Amino acid sequence: MDNFFISTAISYTNGPPHIGHAYEVIAADVIARFKRLEGKNVFFLTGTDEHGLKVQQKAIKLEISPQELADQMSGNFIEMGRALHCSNDDFIRTSEERHKKAVREIWLKMKNNGDIYLDDYSGWYSLIDEAFYNEDELIKDDKGKFLSPNNTPVEWVEEQSYFFRLSSYQEKLLSLYENNFIQPKSKMNEIKNFVEGGLRDISISRKGLDWGIRVPEDDDHSVYVWVDALTNYISALKWPEKSDLFDNFWPGDLHLIGKDIVRFHTVFWPAFLLSAGLELPKQVFSHGFILNKGEKMSKSLGNIEDPMSLAKTFGVDQLRYFLMRETPFGNDGNYSDELLINRVNADLSNDLGNLSQRCLTMVKKNCDQSIPQKNKLNNVDQELLNLVDRKKANIIKLMSSYQISSYISEVFELVSDTNKYFSDQKPWDLKTSDPARMNTVLWISCEMLRRIGILLQPVIPIGSSKLLDFLNIDSDKRLINFLSDDYVLESGKPIKDPEIIFPKIDLIK
Ligand code: MSP
Repeated sequence: MDNFFISTAISYTNGPPHIGHAYEVIAADVIARFKRLEGKNVFFLTGTDEHGLKVQQKAIKLEISPQELADQMSGNFIEMGRALHCSNDDFIRTSEERHKKAVREIWLKMKNNGDIYLDDYSGWYSLIDEAFYNEDELIKDDKGKFLSPNNTPVEWVEEQSYFFRLSSYQEKLLSLYENNFIQPKSKMNEIKNFVEGGLRDISISRKGLDWGIRVPEDDDHSVYVWVDALTNYISALKWPEKSDLFDNFWPGDLHLIGKDIVRFHTVFWPAFLLSAGLELPKQVFSHGFILNKGEKMSKSLGNIEDPMSLAKTFGVDQLRYFLMRETPFGNDGNYSDELLINRVNADLSNDLGNLSQRCLTMVKKNCDQSIPQKNKLNNVDQELLNLVDRKKANIIKLMSSYQISSYISEVFELVSDTNKYFSDQKPWDLKTSDPARMNTVLWISCEMLRRIGILLQPVIPIGSSKLLDFLNIDSDKRLINFLSDDYVLESGKPIKDPEIIFPKIDLIK
């Protein structure tokens, strides 16, 4: 069986999920669902990153234990995934024993390979990024204070620390970047330049941090959160145990992450794996950020959008569709209620919703609520069906290179073409003048809806299942393979009572 392992980043538990987290897990879900439609055996992983000073400090502020905070927040992330119909196969929490075991083991493997040593550390640390920076990477704010390249505050830290010999991995990393390891390409160039500039060894432990995994054989130190967090990708596959899960899914196919954490995934993580003698993941894809009306979302600006309440207000498919369609995958995108409403009303309610409602209502009323008889096809009919065959390879290629928005836009071209066909052929006029032709036009339109429904399942799983249910398509015949002419609709098969799938949303503000 063809296996496919896709993971998201695991989210910090110092705050509840926001729309940026939703964006990432939805995108991963779309890809996972598409791979399943292609017949692959998929393992889709997401989870929470629970250790570190940030979580500890937040817990102190709330007067609860870090574990209690992590329990609450990871519960929120699990709930968000469910509410948004994400089909992850596992949810890893870094406070779980299965994970801690793997972190201790990877540490020991790196140590036994001679890559870990104890030394004194002094340098700049950003708590928000949980990252160390060289002084030449820092920027100054208008008061002359240093900030990290992500604009987060940094503090000077001096302590004894374990170091990882990152400097030994420069050549190996550079040769890794020769392939398509990092996507999009612009990110690959950025990372390549960084590594070509020379790598310094990195500090991988913190002294006196209570909320973390202890360094094996040295209780005074906790493992640096990024060594801890990155290991989730294999701890969830039961490593270091020998298991079918690990054998089938490692090396992973795709780590899907946001643009702010590419260095950790494409420099640190491969170096840790090389040091531990493990295989490297095949690809890291960095997606853009969702901004709120052009501004970065933050607590202080009070502009954080809660994905659960958006899904409640506008609908799950509607939110998924907007996030995936609006912005080319890899670029930054914008959220606003107006943008969502306009996009959903135009594409889902008008184009797709009206087509299916008009077509299926006619079938219900005029064809005994069954798939109509297909009579002789003319050129226009044939051309519309051929369109899918012609476009199929390209549509699949778009999703294989994670161009999700372009994939959707291509499928919606088919919706427009079918709408045009329906209006041009005027089946309502044919009802009396040429009922046999009306049946053919309705059959072609239903068949196009079947194909469109199959292709849209990864993006709008609820609406597309409804559509395929109306058409009475067997649940095992909804895979990409069934797009072909060999599986066209069977005339005479009863259809279900159609109903409006995507009601128009009123502008509320
Ligand atoms: N815990 C680390 C990741 C460890 S992975 C081994 C982390 N957590 S996070 O909660 O800050 O972010 C989780 C994911 O959400 C990251 O991929 C991050 O880039 C992404 N996003 C956070 N804010 C975002 C937006 N506003 N928009 C889109 N994605 C964003 O980083």
